Amino acid sequence: MAVASSFSSERLPRHVAIVMDGNGRWAKKRFLPRVAGHKQGVDALRHTVQSCIDRGVRVLTVFAFSSENWNRPVDEVSGLMELLALALSREVPRLHEKGVQLHFPGDRAVLSSRVQKALVEAESLTVGNHTLVLNVCFNYGGRWDIAQAARRLVAEGREITEAALSETTALAHVGDPDLLIRTGGEMRISNFLLWQSAYTEMVFTPCLWPDFDAQALDQALAEYAGRERRFGQTSEQVSSASGSSHA
Ligand code: IPE
Ligand code: IPE
Ligand code: MG
Repeated sequence: MAVASSFSSERLPRHVAIVMDGNGRWAKKRFLPRVAGHKQGVDALRHTVQSCIDRGVRVLTVFAFSSENWNRPVDEVSGLMELLALALSREVPRLHEKGVQLHFPGDRAVLSSRVQKALVEAESLTVGNHTLVLNVCFNYGGRWDIAQAARRLVAEGREITEAALSETTALAHVGDPDLLIRTGGEMRISNFLLWQSAYTEMVFTPCLWPDFDAQALDQALAEYAGRERRFGQTSEQVSSASGSSHA
């Protein structure tokens, strides 16, 4: 289903990243256990994937579990691990049908062998899909990503340059995010895409992640469409370059 987009293609971000925050508060407001908020969060993600496909976004990268989230109470961590396993078995076939290519950037070594196997299977099943690339960052940390890339370059005897690091991060298969949305009202990066978000436009919304819908996405896309990305240049340089590219 195509949605009449109000953004011209150059104003639509190619790559959207989301810090899906606020599940716990969503549950608390309803006197539910925190894991109920995480479950509702999976539904919000399913709808957001569809909305991104409908609008022509090519890459969606979401933060599902950070390297610091191990510090949460044991029952919440195990609830999140179970939810990952459940979501994989339920959602992967649907995502494959939609033509979504899946990746799970993050440190997988510490995950259960059952989950590790499911992640590899989901990635190989969907490798030929091209409707949308979906990166589900699980046990991901921006510092981990930079450090693992540097370690690999050293092990390969390569020089550590910006280009080499970019090619070796866990998100090397996609370009840097154009837009990063954080739900839940906090205005921080919480160790998400530290390397990749050098020039990403940030949109913060108080909307709790389980409440995030197509309208909330459109609001963030509209905010992005109104931004001027200067990459260090002056506004005048940017407008003359975009004027000449249309000539
Ligand atoms: C984000 O929601 C999900 C994860 C970090 C796994 P939170 O669980 O952080 O929700 P709040 O911030 O406590 O409301
Ligand atoms: C960031 O949210 C991690 C994810 C959404 C997976 P947190 O809730 O963990 O972030 P902090 O602790 O408030 O910075
Ligand atoms: Mg939070």
